[in-house]
Amino acid sequence: MLKAYKEQPINSKAKVNIHTGNFLSANKKFNSIDMIITSPPYVTSYEYADLHQLSSLWLDYVDDYRELRKGSIGSSQTDYRIENEAKNLNKTGNKVVFQLINKNQSQAKAVARYYLDMQKVAKKCFSILSNKSAAVFVIGNTEYKGIRIENAQHLTEALYDAGFDEVSISKRAITNKILTPYRDNNGRFSSDKSARKIYSEEFIVLGIKQ
Ligand SMILES: C[S@@+](CC[C@H](N)C(=O)[O-])C[C@H]1O[C@@H](n2cnc3c(N)ncnc32)[C@H](O)[C@@H]1O
Repeated sequence: MLKAYKEQPINSKAKVNIHTGNFLSANKKFNSIDMIITSPPYVTSYEYADLHQLSSLWLDYVDDYRELRKGSIGSSQTDYRIENEAKNLNKTGNKVVFQLINKNQSQAKAVARYYLDMQKVAKKCFSILSNKSAAVFVIGNTEYKGIRIENAQHLTEALYDAGFDEVSISKRAITNKILTPYRDNNGRFSSDKSARKIYSEEFIVLGIKQ
């Protein structure tokens, strides 16, 4: 990231600091944050800790990459007691999770955990931002056994609940997409061209704090 920043053509004297960590548990204090730009995980797509296993082992972050699953948003491995926490799901989260329970209980739990984490992300973003600031999220919807997993709608609701004054959402087609547009019956990415094709689009969700 530092190397990429040095190579970029914009002439700026801004000082760049890079901090790594779990967004939800890190308690680093920042003086003022005017903007957050992020691409959070989409539920049911990837186990990110597994996806990053080569770089996390290579860069010596952990001896066993599976340890990173613990704090990973959207991971199927978290220590939520979902029975106690489900009441905290927002309206969209609740609707999706209850549709999923009939299809697959463990998948419903994974989606519930993801939604609860993202609700915490929305609250934390709001709390660390200064006044007159913005948070921008790139997020896509997914699908599991015919059920639409409305990540963008869930996040929009979570941002309003967190206190953002205005939330807008725009859809954009994904061109030059490296990822496969195909999904298997479980909604996971597939390279099988006979699998279902998903229209390549994603959403930009913008939250404004006055
Ligand atoms: C959709 S990807 C975005 C990747 C990024 N835009 C990039 O180009 O490398 C979501 C990322 O969120 C990371 N992530 C998951 N849980 C996190 C957490 N609790 N704190 C910080 N990052 C997390 C995942 O490891 C993954 O790299």
